[in-house]
Amino acid sequence: MTTREEREEELVRAGYNLFNVPGPRVLVDLLTDSGTGAMSSAQWAGLQLGDESYAGSASWFRFRDAVRELFPFEHVIPTHQGRAAEKILFTAIGGPGKTIPNNTHFDTTRANVEFTGAEALDLPIPEALVPASRHPFKGNMDVEALERVLAERDVPVVFMTLTNNSGGGQPVSMENLRAVREACGDLPLYLDACRFAENAWFVKLREEGYADTPVPDIVREMASLADGMTMSAKKDPLGNMGGWLALDDDQLAEQCRNLLILTEGFPTYGGMSGRDMEAVAQGLREAVDEDYLHYRVRSTEYLGEALDAAGIPVVLPVGGHAVYIDARGFLPHIPPLEYPGQALAVALYLEGGIRGCEIGTVMFGRHPDGTEEPAAMDLVRLAIPRRTYTQSHVDYVIEVCRFVAERASELRGFRIVEEPPALRHFTARFEPL
Ligand code: F0G
Repeated sequence: MTTREEREEELVRAGYNLFNVPGPRVLVDLLTDSGTGAMSSAQWAGLQLGDESYAGSASWFRFRDAVRELFPFEHVIPTHQGRAAEKILFTAIGGPGKTIPNNTHFDTTRANVEFTGAEALDLPIPEALVPASRHPFKGNMDVEALERVLAERDVPVVFMTLTNNSGGGQPVSMENLRAVREACGDLPLYLDACRFAENAWFVKLREEGYADTPVPDIVREMASLADGMTMSAKKDPLGNMGGWLALDDDQLAEQCRNLLILTEGFPTYGGMSGRDMEAVAQGLREAVDEDYLHYRVRSTEYLGEALDAAGIPVVLPVGGHAVYIDARGFLPHIPPLEYPGQALAVALYLEGGIRGCEIGTVMFGRHPDGTEEPAAMDLVRLAIPRRTYTQSHVDYVIEVCRFVAERASELRGFRIVEEPPALRHFTARFEPL
């Protein structure tokens, strides 16, 4: 435990960037759901089976088969995490003059696209940008906008992020995925599928015709509409580390494998040890268990409903892996370029030792040419690590959010005093205004 005074000092040391605060100085860590879940006994048992052979280990075959059971793509290329898969794919197919549309790119995806000189274009449906709109599939892509882009631009691949992380952990409907597939024609469609199981669960709950379809079948149907995927195994697959790129195209797969060998490793382990591949293979089976998904999505909703009932503006309906507070609505007196999301995230840490994550103008406001404008929304994400916290932790979070809400008008904005050229939210330093 830390005192308020200690946290105040910690914030000054950290340049008011919560990524610079040491984990032990955080009481409830909702920075991310990535790699932070509690592994099951079966996953821990899997670690003991890890075969660390350099080439063709038994663990590789178990991992590959578990991936292909849900995502039956021809080639599976293991990486140490999701962004390594993105880096490899976009190195192969990105480049200046190209445009890569997505419902909404997440930070590393956008950065890896832009690093090649290509443009990362977000095409969410309009409802996705209205936090209070209760559209059941706010992760959907604006298909008409996509058709216009495809007619005018040089597009090597279209991406769909399941669920849409930057937009509130919101799901994509099968109907929308089918319409995007149709709009793509022969053009490749890839899934950024980190939270595929939560997305499939929402399809089962909300989309007509899927109530009786087993989740693994919904996942396979989503995969059947795509030509490939990038994946972070640190999310729904319940791994602490891992990821993959999977695709059908033989020639592109060969090119990607050659890039993999340069920076990740041999194609039968890539960036993972044998024991990690065992944990992920088992995690994939657990991720599609419907009792687990029911508990998972319901516990996120519990937090969101309580904040909503307390009059705190949150993205609705509540997403799968996180509750997103609408910081622009919460702190209307702080303009976007004074970073209301940062102000709120800092206040939650200062008052209660809770670490959330700004997803707004700090994360997305700076363009590759150095100019800055407000992001589409200023959100603070309270991400729920899988199987880690209890309801009493969440009740404490609710209390702290209410406490901060009562003092919202006293919060002030921030300015950035130091920042790198890309992905600035990880290392920027701030000063209160
Ligand atoms: N795509 C999405 C939608 C993500 O949410 C992430 C990571 C990645 C790709 C990259 O995966 O971390 O394994 O390299 N999101 C984490 C988060 C970090 O906090 O949401 P990675």
